[in-house]
Amino acid sequence: MRRFAPMLLAAVALLASACEKKTQPAASGEGTKGGQTAQPATTGGGGTQGDTILLGEVGSLTGAQATFGVSTRNGIELAIKEANEAGGVKGKKIAVRVYDDQGRPEEAAQAVTRLITQDKVVLILGEVASSNSLAMAEKAQGAGVPMITPSSTNPAVTQKGDYIFRVCFIDPFQGYVMAKFARENLKAEQVAILQDNKSAYSIGLTEVFQRKFAEMGGKVTTTESYSQGDTDFRAQLTALKKAKPQAIYVPGYYSDVGVIARQARELGLTVPLMGGDGWDSEKLFELAGDALNGSYFSNHYSPDNPDAKVQKFIADYKKAYGGVPDALAALGYDSAKVAVAAIGKAKDLSGPAIRDAIAQTKDFPGVAGTISLDENRNAVKPAVILKVGDGKTEFVTTINP
Ligand code: PHE
Repeated sequence: MRRFAPMLLAAVALLASACEKKTQPAASGEGTKGGQTAQPATTGGGGTQGDTILLGEVGSLTGAQATFGVSTRNGIELAIKEANEAGGVKGKKIAVRVYDDQGRPEEAAQAVTRLITQDKVVLILGEVASSNSLAMAEKAQGAGVPMITPSSTNPAVTQKGDYIFRVCFIDPFQGYVMAKFARENLKAEQVAILQDNKSAYSIGLTEVFQRKFAEMGGKVTTTESYSQGDTDFRAQLTALKKAKPQAIYVPGYYSDVGVIARQARELGLTVPLMGGDGWDSEKLFELAGDALNGSYFSNHYSPDNPDAKVQKFIADYKKAYGGVPDALAALGYDSAKVAVAAIGKAKDLSGPAIRDAIAQTKDFPGVAGTISLDENRNAVKPAVILKVGDGKTEFVTTINP
C-alpha cells in the first residue's frame, strides 16, 4: 500500500492548484480532465514552447486496474526527473501532461485527442491494457504523433501504424513462453483456459497458448470465458473442473484473477493456475490471499535480477515511492528513457523526426531488458517466469525469444 501514498499526495496537490487556476474544482466526472495531473514544470498553456518539451501520458490512475496506471506513472516520473537533472534534452526541460482514463478505452482515446489538439504534446506514453492502447493508437497514428506503449503486448497495437511503438515483447511470444513452461517444466498434458472476453490481451494470449500448447503435444481440454469486472466465476470453474485439467491458464488482469483463484480453491480445484504479465500487481496478493501460492505467471522483469542498473533503479524507486517496482514501473521508466533519447537524436521536434529516431532504437539498456526495436516497432526480449509465494513472487527461469 505504501507505494501509492506519494501519488495520492501529488494528485491532491495538483487538484488544489487546478482549483486556484480555474476557480472551480476539477470534478472527477469531467471527462478525462478529472484525473489530470501535471509535473511541476507544466504550468498553464501547454504545448512545446520556450524551454520546455511537453510529453503526454495516459493511464488508469483510478478504476479496477489502478495499480497499472500508478506504477507506470511512478516509473515515468522517475525517468523524467533523472533526465531533467542531467540537463534535459535539446537544451530544454521535459514535462509530462498526464490524463487518467479510469481504465476505459473511450476515455483513453479522448485523452489522446486532448493531448494532441489542446496540449500539443510531441509524443505520447501509454497505455498498459492493450484494449486501451488500441483505442489510443488509432488517434495518435491518425494525427502523426508518435506513441510508445510501455507494456501493451497485443500484436495489433503497433500494427495500427508507423507512429506506434512499444518497449516490451508481444503476446505471440508470451503465449509461447507459458505453453513451453507448462509442457516442459510442469509436464502438463491437459490444461484448461479461462479467458476474459472483454480484453484484446486475454483473447490474444488464449489463442496463442492454445495453438502452441497443441504444437508441443499438449491438449487444451476446455476454454471458458468471463467479462472483466465479473464477481462470480463458479459456473465456469465448475465446468473446467469436470475436464480434470493439470493446470489452468488464466490470462487476465490481477483484479479478476485474485477472485478467480479464491473461488477455484473453494470449489476444490487445487491445480496450479498460470497467467501472463496481467497478474503483476501488489494487489494480487491482497485479492487472492494464499489461493495463488504455487501458481506461475510470465512477466517482463524480476526484481531479483542482480544487474547493477536494475538494482540502482529499484533502490531509487524505493526511495521515491516506498515499494519494490513492478514490471509496469520498470517498463514505464524504460519507455520514458527511450522517448527522451529519441527526442535528443531527432533532427527536430516534428512527429516524423521523432518517429524516425524512435524507430532506430537499438541495444538500449532498459531496466526491463535490452531494447532493440524490430521493423514492426516491437521490442524483442526474453520473458521471465515468476512463482507466486506468500505475498511475493519468486524468480523461476528466463525464456529467450
Ligand atoms: N500486457 C498487458 C496488456 O497488454 C498489460 C500489462 C503489462 C499488465 C505488464 C501487467 C504488466 O494488456
